[in-house]
Amino acid sequence: QRRTFTMIKNSLLALVLMISFNANAWWDTGHEMVCSEAYNLLSPAAKKAVDPLSEAEGSFGRSCLWADWVKRERKDTRDWHYINLSDDQQDVSEARCPENGCLIQAFHDQVKVLKNSQTSFLQKQEALWFIGHFVGDIHQPMHVGYPEDLGGNRHQLELADGTKTNMHKVWDGQIIEYVESKIGKKNFHLEVKNKIKIFLDLEHSPEIENWAQESRDIAMSDSVGYRGMLLKVASNEYMEIHGPIVQDRIALGAIRLSNTLNSIFDNKD
Ligand code: ADE
Ligand code: ZN
Ligand code: ZN
Repeated sequence: QRRTFTMIKNSLLALVLMISFNANAWWDTGHEMVCSEAYNLLSPAAKKAVDPLSEAEGSFGRSCLWADWVKRERKDTRDWHYINLSDDQQDVSEARCPENGCLIQAFHDQVKVLKNSQTSFLQKQEALWFIGHFVGDIHQPMHVGYPEDLGGNRHQLELADGTKTNMHKVWDGQIIEYVESKIGKKNFHLEVKNKIKIFLDLEHSPEIENWAQESRDIAMSDSVGYRGMLLKVASNEYMEIHGPIVQDRIALGAIRLSNTLNSIFDNKD
């Protein structure tokens, strides 16, 4: 009887741990994949610079999650994670960054910190962690959303099983979770790796403004159902259709992050 009780206690504990772990897992998968795959594409010089700067978090992939954790203590960094534009403003290059900052401005600022020979190790470490995180965020369409609904956070939705959610959450992680539940985490990652291989043959803009415009255009596309709040239910079919788009964004993020870091660390002038 005592053994049964202990077993029940242990399973309950495992369940609670699983639930609390999952609550943090939203876009973590995407961020970590962007950075760990970018790392694989770094030049030897860039790796040599990145390694000591990411050591404190265990790996460059893990270091890209820090910017989300630090929002609690550093409220001034909260607005650095997105750039919202109203519906009459579809051209990202015309967007003006609000007083409290925005994703594009924060990215440029942190690149400057990382390039500057006068900044300290700790400043560079933070800058690298921010940059890796921001390249992930700018590739998430809902991070270039509308200000009125907080980038889809207020666009209420239901999943196929009736679970309440919102547009932002769906694009942060629930599409990934859906595809992973269908094909497995490992295959999801392999598919992203495959896309990276294919996309490496393409030309890639070095400008974050262009990456942001792509995200905006995806957010505005009919099938997403964000514009006009048309989508009410994120059906399994919705998840299925948009899974490859999320994989594209992760793959492109990885390539562009590696290009950014290679150009920072290779051309030391
Ligand atoms: N808060 C306001 N806009 C947001 C966005 N686009 N993404 C995340 N949080 C937000
Ligand atoms: Zn973020
Ligand atoms: Zn988000």
